[in-house]
Amino acid sequence: SLQKVETFLQRSIGTDVVAAQPEAPTRDESDEKGGCKSLHALQVERQEQAARSVLINCQSRTREKTLLKYLSSHGDIKNYFFYESDDLYAVVEFAKRENVASLLEGAIIPSGSHESAVPFKSRLLTLRNLHTAKSPNQQSGQQCQVQTAFPITELIKNLSREDSIDQQITSLTETYQLTEENTRLRFLVCSLLNDITAAYFPECTIKPFGSSVNGFGKLGCDLDMFLDLDGISGWNPKSGLFLEYQMKQASSARAVTQNILYVIGECVDQFGPGCTRVLKILNARIPLVRFSHKPSGFQCDLTANNRVAMKSTELLYLYGELDPRVRGLVFTVRCWARTQGITSGMPGAWITNFSLTVMVLFFLQKRSPPIIPTLDHLRDLAGPADKCVIEGNDCTFVSDFSKIQLQSNTETLEQLLREFFEFYGTFQFSKMSLSIRKGQEMNKPEMGPLHIENPFETSLNVSKNVNTSQLDRFVALCQESSWLLQQSETNKPKVNEDSYNVLPWGLATLLLPSQVATINTRKKKRREPASARIKSLLESLKNKNEPKMSEGL
Ligand code: GTP
Ligand code: MG
Repeated sequence: SLQKVETFLQRSIGTDVVAAQPEAPTRDESDEKGGCKSLHALQVERQEQAARSVLINCQSRTREKTLLKYLSSHGDIKNYFFYESDDLYAVVEFAKRENVASLLEGAIIPSGSHESAVPFKSRLLTLRNLHTAKSPNQQSGQQCQVQTAFPITELIKNLSREDSIDQQITSLTETYQLTEENTRLRFLVCSLLNDITAAYFPECTIKPFGSSVNGFGKLGCDLDMFLDLDGISGWNPKSGLFLEYQMKQASSARAVTQNILYVIGECVDQFGPGCTRVLKILNARIPLVRFSHKPSGFQCDLTANNRVAMKSTELLYLYGELDPRVRGLVFTVRCWARTQGITSGMPGAWITNFSLTVMVLFFLQKRSPPIIPTLDHLRDLAGPADKCVIEGNDCTFVSDFSKIQLQSNTETLEQLLREFFEFYGTFQFSKMSLSIRKGQEMNKPEMGPLHIENPFETSLNVSKNVNTSQLDRFVALCQESSWLLQQSETNKPKVNEDSYNVLPWGLATLLLPSQVATINTRKKKRREPASARIKSLLESLKNKNEPKMSEGL
């Protein structure tokens, strides 16, 4: 076994931190053209991987070799990595579930002198007594995977070193997107929570949805989880004698969801290791339990019976996989919106990331020729197995990516970004609503500043919360950014010998604080902010100790 560890370490340590690389993706359920895996297939694979994984608090810099030797006495380690949050943690994936069981058999219940432990055993562990290394070589410690977003000021500097706006967009996307490790951690946290819920509902699963899996997630985004109870189904008797479960009844499906989330919320609060600040928000349109998972640093939202959200996640994922420009533009627009205060981490009258993503998709459908198809077209391509109706809403769309024929639009990301701002800077929001189902603007069915049709519940407006002043700010900032991108001073790399004090240009200038931010209406907008913004950034770059600007999107 020691031999195995040695070989394993030789293979992996020192290589870009991800210790054992995940296996090459299998081709089943992939399409022939791009090898795109359906979200469902991806989820199943990730869930299985997470079920074989443990999360270990290693307390501080630790002897990696000793740790791995200890762990691998319980079975082969397929993959591991370290990261830092409040402490040093390791995510360790074993080859088999039995290995985890074996590891847990040897684990002990903590005995504090002042406190008593709730004896709920989980796969969140603390490694004790692993003394720090003595030899200097071993003391070098672990390389840690970053799990938080990159500071915006650093991003602006890095973008300014790129040679084209296209490269800036690609670079921004690569900087912000979720890493392999962060995705593993997200599935692991779902899996840990699944152990709590499975105590009541052994057949249930906890699935991540939203930006954790739709391809548009940024490091540091929340973890949306969905308690899937649909696996709990009975056997349908044809005729004759049969047994039926006696079950408690509640007045409505919503009441059942609320009751379940109430109890799970209480369990997470009382028993869930690492889960803090638990809030039960049961009267929301979509009832949820919100909590912080301290070891991962994730802000978690747990919902139940929320299948439509899972479908919209699948749809966003599909659009993101169809053409790389989709993700590039969504990441850029989300980042721009967050730095300009169009979106916010708080609930309120702001445009949400979800609405903003739908706006980008709509814009891409409106290109000539369109870059992505309409949702109605995706529904027409669906096969019998894709049929899906949730609470009377048709959520059917094609799952086989290879059936989708794309038109040959050759616009560059730079052109698209420019056109995006132009498009929404002049859009008739007062009369028209946006529909990605039709790929056309429609007459607004109701008043309200911004109307974006919910793709699967078409009578609903996903941006109902947005007020006039927020919409006006969005439009004004689109106009300003469109104008900025047309200025020759903005859209060419600034040649500068001094690579430290690089001048912001292109996309970087759009991420500088705007003059429009303080102006409420379009009419009052001033139109000479570019030089002011560049000047203010230069000031901030000069002063290395200045406080950080707001964090990413
Ligand atoms: P982040 O801001 O990065 O968390 O983006 P997100 O896409 O995860 O958004 P959020 O956490 O607000 O919501 C999670 C998921 O719920 C979204 O991806 C959608 O699938 C769905 N969702 C959110 N808001 C709405 C809405 O207003 N209408 C509908 N139909 N679905 C929504
Ligand atoms: Mg989210």
